[in-house]
Amino acid sequence: MTGNISAKSTARGIKRGGVKLSTKLLGPFGVFLQGAIKEPGMVGAVFPSSKSTIDNMMKKVDWENCKLVVEYGPGVGTFTHHLLKHLPADAQLLAIDTNAHYVEHLANTIADPRFKAVLGSATDVERIVKEAGHEFADIVISGLPISTLPEDVAEDMIDATYRVLKPGGAFLTYQYRLKARRLTEQAFDRIDKKYVLMNVPPNHLTWGWKAA
Ligand SMILES: C[S@@+](CC[C@H](N)C(=O)[O-])C[C@H]1O[C@@H](n2cnc3c(N)ncnc32)[C@H](O)[C@@H]1O
Repeated sequence: MTGNISAKSTARGIKRGGVKLSTKLLGPFGVFLQGAIKEPGMVGAVFPSSKSTIDNMMKKVDWENCKLVVEYGPGVGTFTHHLLKHLPADAQLLAIDTNAHYVEHLANTIADPRFKAVLGSATDVERIVKEAGHEFADIVISGLPISTLPEDVAEDMIDATYRVLKPGGAFLTYQYRLKARRLTEQAFDRIDKKYVLMNVPPNHLTWGWKAA
């Protein structure tokens, strides 16, 4: 289920899905909408994250010392582009999503050697990180709809995330509901939190820190 998607298959995928019009008229939001229509339960949102959510989430990261950042559920890349702006030149960003439509879109639109879009599940993060040639991640940021994931999937994902992070690393979530924060509190050594009103709907931001 893991793999890079070629530009050719992206173009075919978009045509097959009949999204040409919404993609042209609405840009990334059209792509987001199309992916959400294809897999509504897995996307769990109507609008991509706001600038306020993104800026607040990024503030606490020690970007200079990052070697590997992993993003779960990048969707159409609302966060991805900002992560790449902050990422050092010698670092890597792995974006993992179960929605082939989004993975194809990202692989087709982001031509950055530091970036790799992976079709797969966040629960397999340890294998995916190893296959990319790394032992640990410095930061894992999640856009997964954690409150709608089955409890065992959510718990497996959080446990795998704790294991894959280096000591001192952090797990970042932005969620409408508080389930992600509760699970993060249970698995991590310390948390920071913030409420962002300027998002549709407002977001709970949580940073789960693994002890250094
Ligand atoms: C709400 S969207 C997030 C979009 C984007 N990150 C943003 O901030 O606008 C949730 C994303 O999680 C993905 N997803 C759901 N379950 C997943 C899983 N187990 N592993 C990886 N991605 C998953 C969906 O396909 C979707 O792209």
